[in-house]
Amino acid sequence: CGITATVGADDAVSRLLTGLENLEYRGYDSAGVAVANGSGVEVVKREGQVDELVDLLSTASIGGHVGLGHTRWSTHGPPTNANAHPHTDCRGELAVVHNGIVENHAELRERLQAAGHTFTSDTDTEVVPHLVEEYLATGAGVETAFRRAVADLSGSYAIALVHEDEDAVYATRQGSPLVFGVADGADSRSTSEGATYYLASDVPAFLEFTDDVVYLEDGDVVRAAPDGYEITDPEGSAVDRPVESVEWSSEDVEKGSFDHYMRKEIDEQPTAIAQAVRGRADDGRVAFESLSDGAFADVDRVQFVACGTSYHAALYGAQLLRDRGIPSRVFLASEYATTAPPAGDGTILVGVTQSGETADTLAALRRGRSEGLRTMAVTNVVGSTAARECDETVFIRAGPEIGVAATKTFSSQVVTLTLLAERIRRDVTGSHSEAAPELLDALSELPSAVGSTLADSSAESIAERYGDSDAYFFVGRGSAHPVALEGALKLKEISYEHAEGFPAGELKHGPLALVTPNTPVFAVATGAHTEKLLGSIEEVSARGAPVIAVAPRSEEAVAEAADDVLWVPESHPELVGLLANVQLQLLSYHTATLLDRPVDKPRNLAKSVTVE
Ligand code: G6P
Repeated sequence: CGITATVGADDAVSRLLTGLENLEYRGYDSAGVAVANGSGVEVVKREGQVDELVDLLSTASIGGHVGLGHTRWSTHGPPTNANAHPHTDCRGELAVVHNGIVENHAELRERLQAAGHTFTSDTDTEVVPHLVEEYLATGAGVETAFRRAVADLSGSYAIALVHEDEDAVYATRQGSPLVFGVADGADSRSTSEGATYYLASDVPAFLEFTDDVVYLEDGDVVRAAPDGYEITDPEGSAVDRPVESVEWSSEDVEKGSFDHYMRKEIDEQPTAIAQAVRGRADDGRVAFESLSDGAFADVDRVQFVACGTSYHAALYGAQLLRDRGIPSRVFLASEYATTAPPAGDGTILVGVTQSGETADTLAALRRGRSEGLRTMAVTNVVGSTAARECDETVFIRAGPEIGVAATKTFSSQVVTLTLLAERIRRDVTGSHSEAAPELLDALSELPSAVGSTLADSSAESIAERYGDSDAYFFVGRGSAHPVALEGALKLKEISYEHAEGFPAGELKHGPLALVTPNTPVFAVATGAHTEKLLGSIEEVSARGAPVIAVAPRSEEAVAEAADDVLWVPESHPELVGLLANVQLQLLSYHTATLLDRPVDKPRNLAKSVTVE
């Protein structure tokens, strides 16, 4: 879900709607806006898509130059018009949008109801406008009432508020993302007329209006008005936050000639991978701009935490580290946050997170930090919470990813983790692995290998051939195992078909019971463990299941044993899995488009899940 707000634009509603459209990729089920225009606060909101909100607004004729917008992804209460944000107080004098979870909402609601407040929604958010109203009634000004209300909340939140008496937006954050955009050269606390300000959960919301951004910190309170802005701490003392220019351009976040962002982002992988490698593997040595020489010399164990696709990338990376003699394990972040495994002084905890804002991953990293572990973020988003909170950060440099289903960021994560594995190995043992020279060469060739995978793919015809199956299974061993998991995740996310990934050897211990002639099995072959994979192929073939190998041409026996093949170019054995994954991304994409699914915005899913 996403927040957007604007101050100072002539037509706040159109800016807010642009922001909401730009945030659609985060996933949502309802949308709304509120504007303050001197004669009150007007709210228009509904369950459904942003274009339905646009239709509603075309007959509502509301206007103003201060406003809030929101896309909601239901947590407390179903997607209904009443539960959509913005939420208001009893008298409709103020409006609030919120991301995150107010953990003490039940207790606050009870207190407010006892004081006479009437609630109109099931949301946790609605306590906020009523709390502000309560403090206003004691004679406090809007800013003080806002601060006092926020001080009553526990949980995670990014909140923005408008009030009918003020030409301003107030906002704050605690554990949920919120960035502040500054347009027209306005300066902190300046009085430059004509300045326009934006608040949003993510920079792409306002990138077409400004690329000057302030990354707010937890506890910051912003007041933005047409004559300037101020950022203060919870007690009201001014804090200095730099205005930074973001490198992403607005073209990067547009769909161009592609039907879907996902398709565009699959195609962008050669460039994304080249960016991830650039300058990091020169002269046969791996170097990261943010890490000093020998930075990992004391590391004796690596623990990864991640969710979803990033979890699969972390599995890939951990395998590479183990192959280099470095003990490494991957944990689902949500589990680690509550049940952390033992770790010692030499443990580094690495959070792999595209957005840098996934609440589960942040919670796991915070848990590790609270136990004294050194933490590192591997992320795509400069200024993200993970990047700011961790001791060190390595950026994957994939550029903005809008499709809910992660594609290019998986490849960029894997490439970055490949480099990191070599780098850790060198710092710990004094030298790169024996595989390094060939691997680094192969990494520099990888963009063109991905390019030819994309150009020669038969994934569309495979999707047509098997598009009417009962279920889809994906198997692989070693580095092909995370690829099998990711292939299944991608397919289920965007096609809504039942898909599961397994380590190939585990098939016979249960999943085989599900295999029938109507459950195609995709066997990912990387060149390692071929004999064993052939055994698994025989097991499923014997039950009549069609087998589609995803393999380089050198895997002749696998190709022969299969009914169909999705070919991948020859590459270093540790990178073939990444190429196979590109084929499986295309397979998912084509299966989903054949089934007419909303590829970029699958039901019930969000790009970045900022609640635990
Ligand atoms: C959500 C998305 C997934 C993503 C996961 C982790 O569940 O739908 O596509 O892999 O979050 O996101 P992160 O930003 O931490 O990589």
